[in-house]
Amino acid sequence: MTVTELPKIELHLHHEGAAPPAFIRQLAHEKRVDLSGIFKPDGSYDFRGFAHFLEVYEAACEVLKSPEDFRRLTLAILEESAANGVVYSETFLSPDFCGGGDLHAWRDYLNAIQDAADEAERKLGITLRGVVTCVRHFGPEQAKASARCAAETAGDWITGFGMGGNEGVGRQGDFAWAFDCAREAGLRLTTHAGEFGGPDSVREAVRELGVERIGHGVRAIEDPDLVHELADRGVTLEVCPGSNVVLGLYDDFASHPIAKLRDAGVKVSVSTDDPPFFHTTMRREYEMLHKAFGWQAEDFAAINETALSAAFCDEETRARVKKRLEKT
Ligand code: ADE
Ligand code: ZN
Repeated sequence: MTVTELPKIELHLHHEGAAPPAFIRQLAHEKRVDLSGIFKPDGSYDFRGFAHFLEVYEAACEVLKSPEDFRRLTLAILEESAANGVVYSETFLSPDFCGGGDLHAWRDYLNAIQDAADEAERKLGITLRGVVTCVRHFGPEQAKASARCAAETAGDWITGFGMGGNEGVGRQGDFAWAFDCAREAGLRLTTHAGEFGGPDSVREAVRELGVERIGHGVRAIEDPDLVHELADRGVTLEVCPGSNVVLGLYDDFASHPIAKLRDAGVKVSVSTDDPPFFHTTMRREYEMLHKAFGWQAEDFAAINETALSAAFCDEETRARVKKRLEKT
């Protein structure tokens, strides 16, 4: 079996960011919205750099405006993930894009997404769980509304809370109220840090927000003391190498610090972030890591075990997914 065929666990996937460009174009066509400016002539998303990526992302969200849109999107995402051998996935869902932070609307969106996830689980055998994310550049007040939505719907399916968005805006600590609210509701915590922010953003995330996972976190490599701290605390990094390369953090996979972090004892997992934006898939991530670092099936098995241990699902789900990993 080649490494690309292995069963996979994915912990870091933005729901809207996983929308295939053809899916967004189809919705734009149905709704008579002109989104031609966000696509290249070859049909892929057109952006230059991180800030522009976020703008194009939010423009694509303009046509994702109803629970039914999200039901269709969820099915499209899970078909693609299952085709890539993903058996368990966690997706980032933002109440900001699902009803604007209104709790009643959020419940409707969530019901539609869960319906689609149930259907995909029955048909394709892939398990999905939701992590509610606030968007950093929408500010701490809007983050509170997201946290309230998360807290009100916390349970077996919404299992975590996190934050994405522009790391250049504010500090992690500005969002402490939202993270405390989510923690009190029993949700597990992650946040984007150390992607565009330096090592201090990772330190702040761990110390001030008390997160147990970090989205990206790769720039921790610039500070050896922090690398030790992450290893000691057992923080799991949701590493998305292909995303980091396309957004210009590193020139190529071979220059990416994932192998150095792993060798230093930091727990690393592998994800795609926003796969169609970054021209990647879980298969491609495995293939590129295999080529860059010589990682073999046993390395990926260990990475999947780390990811499953850090997954925010309940123990019964974890045990069921573990059996699926072991079968292959
Ligand atoms: N939202 C979607 N993708 C993101 C990324 N890579 N970093 C921060 N926020 C995001
Ligand atoms: Zn992300």
